[in-house]
Amino acid sequence: MALTQVQIDRVRNLRGVHLEALQRVNVFYGANGSGKTSVLEAIHLLGMARSFRGNSIRSLITHGEDTCTVFGSVALPGAGALPLGIQRSRNGEAQIRLGGKTVRTVAELAEQLPLQVINADSFGLLTGSPGARRQFLDWGVFHVEQQFFPQWQRFQRCIKQRNMLLRRGKLSHQELAVWTRDLARSGAAINEFRQAYFEQLAPGFQQTMARLAPSLDTLELRFRQGWDHKLTYAEALEQGIATDREQGFTHAGPQRADIRVTSGGHPAAETLSRGQQKLVVCGLKLAQGQLMSQLGRGQCTYLIDDLPSELDRKHGGLVCELLASMDAQVFITCVERDEIQSVWPDTGGLAMFHVEHGRVSASGSA
Ligand SMILES: Nc1ncnc2c1ncn2[C@@H]1O[C@H](COP(=O)(O)OP(=O)(O)OP(=O)(O)O)[C@@H](O)[C@H]1O
Ligand SMILES: [Mg+2]
Repeated sequence: MALTQVQIDRVRNLRGVHLEALQRVNVFYGANGSGKTSVLEAIHLLGMARSFRGNSIRSLITHGEDTCTVFGSVALPGAGALPLGIQRSRNGEAQIRLGGKTVRTVAELAEQLPLQVINADSFGLLTGSPGARRQFLDWGVFHVEQQFFPQWQRFQRCIKQRNMLLRRGKLSHQELAVWTRDLARSGAAINEFRQAYFEQLAPGFQQTMARLAPSLDTLELRFRQGWDHKLTYAEALEQGIATDREQGFTHAGPQRADIRVTSGGHPAAETLSRGQQKLVVCGLKLAQGQLMSQLGRGQCTYLIDDLPSELDRKHGGLVCELLASMDAQVFITCVERDEIQSVWPDTGGLAMFHVEHGRVSASGSA
């Protein structure tokens, strides 16, 4: 699952950009404002149909244009290639093509091109709201457990319906019992998937961190399921019914789940330096990619915006060493040509691209 070529049109300052002969590791360097982040945004658009910064699609479409498009080709295991394409319009419409056919859901696209982003917003994984951490966890579960997504959709439907009825306040015991029963079932299933995944991820994270930041105090990764762990979800819902009715929404459940990183018993977000936080974020994301590959689910593609920022040379080098030891395809941006090149352990494997005023030119390999 590696991109061999990508065509980008009308994405921010990129027009008619054709990236060919992509390698396992692709470095995009250039001055501020040249278009490096935009290249990563375009690839993210191809895999997820949206911006990785959570911005509206309008921010990705070149000013004055109505649509933007990205096409790509993914090499399939064995032989052959799978063409993918996306067009997004200012009015929000999305057209997704996969293998020459139009597909309806982003999930189908995401399955073909699993992406991991590491950028300035990734600090939110430690310092932001639990929602970002649930998204991180669910990315992993989605890519290793096929039953997760339909179950997750079921859960979303149930909780929406149950909350709507609770808000209206006029529902009978019987009505509430039906929605509570369905919610309990799908919520418990989601939790089991998450827990099983987390138990595999946690040791991988520890191993990764031992390589990336051996000097860090004991790091611990904990999973909180979103309700009292001594109760089943059905019991927790039962216990919370009075409060749910009173306040008009469902309190307990997987929608409150979280994962926490602590260092020496203190919250990582409060204790670790900015560079150490970046290493933990890299550790979490690299551990996910490694687990996916260990479980035979293929490789994910890493989009790493400005890898050198916040990291000293030694730690930047350690992240590169770890990336080099994986089979995953990597797209990295940096400002100066030699920033990544000089710390990359395998000198044979980098494709270098120079980005200048929205134009991207291959500038050899290192
Ligand atoms: N919708 C848009 N249409 C046209 N140009 C845009 C749009 N949005 C942003 N730009 C411009 O695209 C250029 C490239 O932005 P980008 O974020 O990719 O730069 P960069 O190379 O990552 O820079 P830096 O090193 O500062 O991170 C910038 O000059 C930016 O102002
Ligand atoms: Mg940038």
